[in-house]
Amino acid sequence: MHDFQSLKSLIEAEINALQLEGNPKELYEPIRYSLSLNAKRVRPILTLAAAELFGGTLSKATKPALGMEVFHNFTLLHDDIMDNAPIRRSNPTVHARWGTNIAILSGDAMFVKACQLISEAESFCLKAVLDLFYATALEVCEGQQLDMNFEKISSIGIPDYIEMIRLKTAVLLAACLKAGALMSAASKNDADEIYAFGENMGLAFQLRDDLLDVYGESKFGKRVGGDILSNKKTFMLLKAMEVADKSQKEKLDFWMSPVPHQEEDKIQAVTEIFNTLNIKGFTENEIDFYYQKGLKNLHNISVGIERKGVLLNFTESLLQREI
Ligand code: IPE
Ligand code: IPE
Ligand code: MG
Ligand code: MG
Ligand code: MG
Repeated sequence: MHDFQSLKSLIEAEINALQLEGNPKELYEPIRYSLSLNAKRVRPILTLAAAELFGGTLSKATKPALGMEVFHNFTLLHDDIMDNAPIRRSNPTVHARWGTNIAILSGDAMFVKACQLISEAESFCLKAVLDLFYATALEVCEGQQLDMNFEKISSIGIPDYIEMIRLKTAVLLAACLKAGALMSAASKNDADEIYAFGENMGLAFQLRDDLLDVYGESKFGKRVGGDILSNKKTFMLLKAMEVADKSQKEKLDFWMSPVPHQEEDKIQAVTEIFNTLNIKGFTENEIDFYYQKGLKNLHNISVGIERKGVLLNFTESLLQREI
């Protein structure tokens, strides 16, 4: 078995070797750009680690694992348009650099490329892997639509938020793990359990992303405060609304109202309210809640504990990450 750092190196080498040359160059250059920037490669690492957990070989799982990473990067091109995000991985986003139309079309081409790579799963599991991937890709779209809908609605509850991040983020991590399990012919119980592990870890992962969106440093590589500017209904905001007193609540309502605000003032004012209410602490507890749930799922998988260390170390590192 490989540790997660060596799985990452393998994935980087495979990404470099992808054939992404072509004409018109305006279509392919943003694809190479997006895939070449410094990224964590969470999703393909999960696929490969799950494949090894159940005794499969890396070579059979590598192409579909890459497909998951290409799919993820495609969603980021479109997500950055929807979120009006200027920076990703410490570089200009594709739409900021080349324009929205190019980001849409390069994203579309990446989705096709992802499908091609995932279709290279071995024939004994191909149908199951594709069914899983297609169902997941639709769920991601559903989650992304809810994320945008919620920007305009003030009556969102924490359970609505959890369901939204389950769809936009957690199911892809879960599907990456389950795809690895399917490619290694794991039992149905184990495949379902590793999926549940991925869902819980995915919820914790997105909660951490939302936390870093407020408290991240420049190495986070995205514009800090972006979620506050877009009135994203994150756990942090919803918790703040729940525990705020009357005057703090009025302030939050004011900053989220559609009247034009000076961007830096809004970010600073909302962050100060979060600080006063210790929203960071609440969020860390919520992350830990899903982490503990995920650990139970991992425990239930019918594989020797000594084989589970790679996934354990990797998820721990993800939930403490700064980028
Ligand atoms: C960003 O994903 C989108 C989320 C679901 C939070 P990552 O945090 O995995 O981003 P990269 O691929 O490492 O840049
Ligand atoms: C993105 O969530 C989830 C998907 C791309 C499907 P975010 O909008 O929070 O991701 P970042 O912060 O831009 O990476
Ligand atoms: Mg975004
Ligand atoms: Mg988004
Ligand atoms: Mg985010």
